[in-house]
Parts: sequence; structure tokens; C-alpha cells
Amino acid sequence: MVVGIASLFVSALVATQAIATPIKARSPYAVKEKHLKPRAWRKLDKAPRDHLINLQIAVKQSNFEQLEKHLYEVSDPAHPRYGDHLSADDVTELIKPTDDSLDQIHEWLEENGIVPTAYSTAKDWIHVTLPVETIERLLDTEYHTFEHADGGRVVRTEGWSLPRHLHAHIDTIQPTTSFFRARAASVDSFVSPIWEAQDFSINGLAEKKMNDPEIAKVCNVSSVTPECFKTLYKTKGYKTQAADKNAIGFTNYLGEHPIRSDTEQFLQKYNPEAVSSARDFKQIVIANGPGDQPLTPAETEEGTSKEANLDVQAIAGISYSTPITSYSTGGSPPFIPDINTPTNTNEPYLVWVNYLLDQKSFPQVITTSYGDDEQTVPKSYATRVCQQFAQVGARGTSLLFSSGDNGVGRYGTCVSNDGKNTTMFLPSFPAGCPYVTTVGATKNFQPEVVAYRAAFTGPDGVTRGNYTSGSGFSNYFEAPGYQKEVVSKYVSDLKGKYDGLYNKKGRGYPDISAQGLYFAYFWNGTEGVISGTSASCPLTGGILSLVNDALIASGKRPLGFLNPWLYSVGYKGLTDITEGSGVGCGVDGFPATKGWDAVTGLGTPIFPELVKLAGGKLPHQ
Ligand SMILES: *[C@@H]1O[C@H](CO)[C@@H](O)[C@H](O)[C@H]1NC(C)=O
Ligand SMILES: *[C@@H]1O[C@H](CO)[C@@H](O)[C@H](O)[C@H]1NC(C)=O
Ligand SMILES: *[C@@H]1O[C@H](CO)[C@@H](O)[C@H](O)[C@H]1NC(C)=O
Ligand SMILES: *[C@@H]1O[C@H](CO)[C@@H](O)[C@H](O)[C@H]1NC(C)=O
Repeated sequence: MVVGIASLFVSALVATQAIATPIKARSPYAVKEKHLKPRAWRKLDKAPRDHLINLQIAVKQSNFEQLEKHLYEVSDPAHPRYGDHLSADDVTELIKPTDDSLDQIHEWLEENGIVPTAYSTAKDWIHVTLPVETIERLLDTEYHTFEHADGGRVVRTEGWSLPRHLHAHIDTIQPTTSFFRARAASVDSFVSPIWEAQDFSINGLAEKKMNDPEIAKVCNVSSVTPECFKTLYKTKGYKTQAADKNAIGFTNYLGEHPIRSDTEQFLQKYNPEAVSSARDFKQIVIANGPGDQPLTPAETEEGTSKEANLDVQAIAGISYSTPITSYSTGGSPPFIPDINTPTNTNEPYLVWVNYLLDQKSFPQVITTSYGDDEQTVPKSYATRVCQQFAQVGARGTSLLFSSGDNGVGRYGTCVSNDGKNTTMFLPSFPAGCPYVTTVGATKNFQPEVVAYRAAFTGPDGVTRGNYTSGSGFSNYFEAPGYQKEVVSKYVSDLKGKYDGLYNKKGRGYPDISAQGLYFAYFWNGTEGVISGTSASCPLTGGILSLVNDALIASGKRPLGFLNPWLYSVGYKGLTDITEGSGVGCGVDGFPATKGWDAVTGLGTPIFPELVKLAGGKLPHQ
């Protein structure tokens, strides 16, 4: 195997160089990046010297600015090129590194006897598997084992260096300083006996008078169902017309994989016409991710696949008969010091998105219900992962991400990671990436309000944490052009409230929202309810895939990267949410207001309006 040969070769080489540190370089080493471990992590011993790491080298892309320009042109309804999405080859051509960058990096690797294991299609990522001791010399650094408060371990460093002449050619190398840890954005699942006992009038903002009898008939806040979503968001009665040319996908990480039998039970009960979706959805396995199998006893014990089940059921409940693709990406097995298997990157998004970009085509809508605090990811790396998402957008796909479940930040964790412990709100990643569409959560129906449910201890004695639709402003990415105006108006209307706790110039999120409290779902053969922006995100994806269906049937291009359209035109096809706030960090958090706000975005979907605004026709009108 390539990996084995490379590491053998390297060990031999390291032996001959044992006294020469740092290793040979044409210019002196200088620190490239420092990034302190986040508070939830504890530094343990030095990493074992023979522990293998799959190193990913991000080579500077030659022309990302051009790619971004294309992305905005083809996504802006006011531009003549609107809808003229790029091909895979167009994108590769725009971002491939210069020969000079590749030559200089290759020269450095060669001097150190290192042969790359693999490249991304555009050669903007170089992969090489090496033992810790070699990487420590190569990057003039020292790796340690770090342990998360939940017991998970990774091998990382808090800073690394490069020969000075390479600084301009390499954006980042990981895993070094990234402590990103994908978390599923689903919270508190209950099986019936528990949730039925709950008092749903808590937390104020109780359901007001239900004026619309149609909605009152099908929507029950203690268990919301596809029938409710179809009525509330007005997809009811729509029959797909372009299922052979349209698709929707969703991603799974952390060992999650959707279970067909649970999905079948769910659809049988709540959307019988779609029951074939349970058998028909495609399962793509990436990097040794979990395959298509029933839950094992161990998985049942751990509650695995609640998230994946929620995702597939929320999508299939509303988007039938649009074909569904599930992507299950393996990744970072937990680091076990005694087992010398290479740990992966702990950066599953990158593995997934690089897989996706290698494909000739992929679904026009893809949803992801995972994220982490932005400050756990170094800025250079967040930027590169975000730039990969821009490539997907340029090719005409809408990428949707959950906004998180902690309002402006998880209570008790709202401090900076710069060694100073400054009090601050905690934005999420990738929610703050400007090239994706971020989805927040609502609850109640007439009107819908911000999804918020205070912590409580259930009859089972288990305490469920606070849950609020994720809300905020990125500290890494500036507000992009499409939202600059509404964000600056929102910030100025806050009149100084929360000054110093967030980045007033940052990319604000979410962009859009939908229901996210107490979704009916099946898991392990049993019905229950589950909440989170994890629910809102696939539901919104399902509705948007129906908009694409109507567009494709009308001879139009699919929506593609949504935000430039949403902020200039599409918002008129949304219900503005104006009550509630992003409760978190021990405060009320950003309020929902008239117009865009940093907790529900522009609002919740009204399907027929969105279709009309996008230029599509509805068959029965
Ligand atoms: C909503 O569902 C709960 C739990 O099944 C039930 O107790 C309640 O009566 C329902 N409310 C309405 C208005 O149907
Ligand atoms: C920041 O908080 C951590 C964890 O509570 C503590 O160990 C550290 O001393 C604090 N640093 C400062 C500068 O207060
Ligand atoms: C999963 O289902 C099995 C079979 O019905 C049951 O014995 C087990 O208790 C369930 N596990 C959980 C965690 O609900
Ligand atoms: C929920 O948030 C409140 C403050 O808003 C805090 O007092 C409480 O401890 C939090 N509960 C949990 C379980 O984190």
C-alpha cells in the first residue's frame, strides 16, 4: 500500500537526519500559525512519535477572487449571467494553484524525502501520511494528545512553522491547530411517554389563537408532522414534475447513517405516498463511513442515527418524489495511543466536499446539520473549507447548514479562545461562511416565533439543556455584499445592545428559517419527537428542492447558491418572524425583528410565492 511504503521510506530518512533539526530548508523557518486549544480541551502528553497522521496541505489557489466573482454573477438575479452555473472543469481551471506554488512545495517535500500520497482534482490539496516525528521536523513543531471534556482525544499542536519562502504558497496545513469537532445540531429526543407529559406552554410565547382552521387542524406543537409542514408552508397538493432531473442530498458524520426500516415506518404513518423513498434513497459511503445497515446493539445503546433518521425523514416527508442521496463520511476514529492506525483529519467536511467536487454532477440542494464553535477552527482553515463550499455553489447547488442550537452561545462557555478569556458570544462554523445558506429554527404556528425551550429535567430524571435557534455574527468572515445593508441596519437598530460581545461587521446568520421543535420521527422502531436546527435544515432543503422541481419543469435553471437571490428577491416569498430571541450566554440574545434578524434570518418559506418569484410556474394555477 502506498501509505505503508511512504512511511517506511520516511522512517529510513528520518534516521539519517536525526541530528539535523530543523530539517533542510532553502530559507529559515518562521511561525506560520498559532491557535490555542479551546477551553473544552485538556493538553496531555507528547504525541507518540510513530503515530500516523494524514496531513492535508492547502496550496494557495491561483484565482479564488475570480471564482468568487463568477459565483456572485451566476447567483445574482440582476446579472445577465444568472443561472449560468459553472462546470466542474471551469471551477478546476479557476482555482488550480500556479506551477510555481506546486514546484516550490514539491521541492521542499522532496528535499525531505516525502512523496505525496494523493491530490485533489485541482491539486489545491496535497495529502501525505506521515508519522508525528517527521511532521514535527517538517513543521518545526511539537504534537501533543489533547482530550475533550467528553473524553474524545486528538493529536494536535498549538502552532507550527514553515520555511519563509513557502508562506505565500501554503494557506494552511491540517491537522495541526484545528480543534473543530462536528456536533450534530439535534437536541432532546423523547419517546412518547416522556414528551406527552411535558408542559408545552412553558417559556412564554405560547401558541396564540389559531386563526387559520386548516393549520389548527394539522399542526400540534407537541409533535409536528409533514402534514403540518405542507399546510404551513403551502406545498400541499404540489406534485413533482421533474424528478428525473432533480435531486436532494444530505450529509452524515460521526458514524450516523439513516435507517431504512425506521424511515419506512415514519412514511407509512405520515406520508404514505412517499413510502418507496425509504427503499429508494441512495447511500453513498465516503472514507470508510458507515454503510447501509440496520442499527447494531452498540449503536442502539449509544443513540446513533437519531440525527440521520431525522434528516432523511424530514426530507422525504415533504419532497417526494425528488430522489434523495445520503452521504455518510467516515473520519476521525477516536485517537487511541496503542493502535497505530492513521487518524483522519477530524475535518469531515473537507473530506466530503473534496469527494463531491470530484464528481461530474451532484444534487441541486444538499443539507448539513452539523457544526461547532467557530473559534475551535483556525481562521486560515475555516477560510479554505468555506472556499470549497463556494465551488459547490458556483456549480449550481444550494448548500444549507444548520445555525446551531445554542442561540448566541452555550451558557457557561461564552469566552474567547485567545488566552484572555474575554466574554463574548460564540458564533458557529460553517454557519458563518458567506457561501452557504444558514437555516435557523422556529416553533408555534400562528405566528411562528423563535424556537426556544429552556433547560428542564424530564420525568425520566434526565436534564435536557437549553435549546435556542443558533444566532450571531462571524468573527472570521465579513458581511458579504448581498446582506451588508440589512445587517448594518439591524446592528444600528440594536442601539449599542451587546456591544463588544460580537463582530458588528461580521457575516450575520441565519439567512432563512423553518420549524425546529418536536418533530415526529422514528428511531429504533419507535416513534418519538426530536428538535433542533437539525430539523429545520433538511425541512427547508426539502421545500427548496420542490422549488427547483417547478423551475426545472418550467425550463429554468435551479436556484443554485441562494443568498444573492434570497436577499434581493426571494425574501418576498418568506414569512417574516418577529417574536423571540437567540437566548444564550445567560442573556436574551439577538431579537427577532421586522426584516432580517440574526436569529430567524429573512423568515420561513411560502412555497408558491418562492416558485413565482424564481420565475417558475405552478401546474394548477
Ligand atoms: C397535541 O398532541 C398532544 C400529544 O399527543 C395531545 O395531548 C394534545 O391534545 C394535542 N393537541 C391538540 C390541539 O390536538
Ligand atoms: C482562562 O480560563 C481558563 C479555564 O478556566 C484558566 O485556566 C485560565 O487561567 C484563564 N486565563 C485567564 C487569563 O484568566
Ligand atoms: C431498541 O429497540 C429494541 C427492540 O425493540 C429494544 O429492546 C431497545 O430497548 C431499544 N433501545 C432503545 C435505546 O430504545
Ligand atoms: C440554561 O440557561 C440559564 C441561563 O439562561 C442557566 O441559568 C442554566 O444553567 C442553563 N441550563 C443548562 C442546563 O445549561
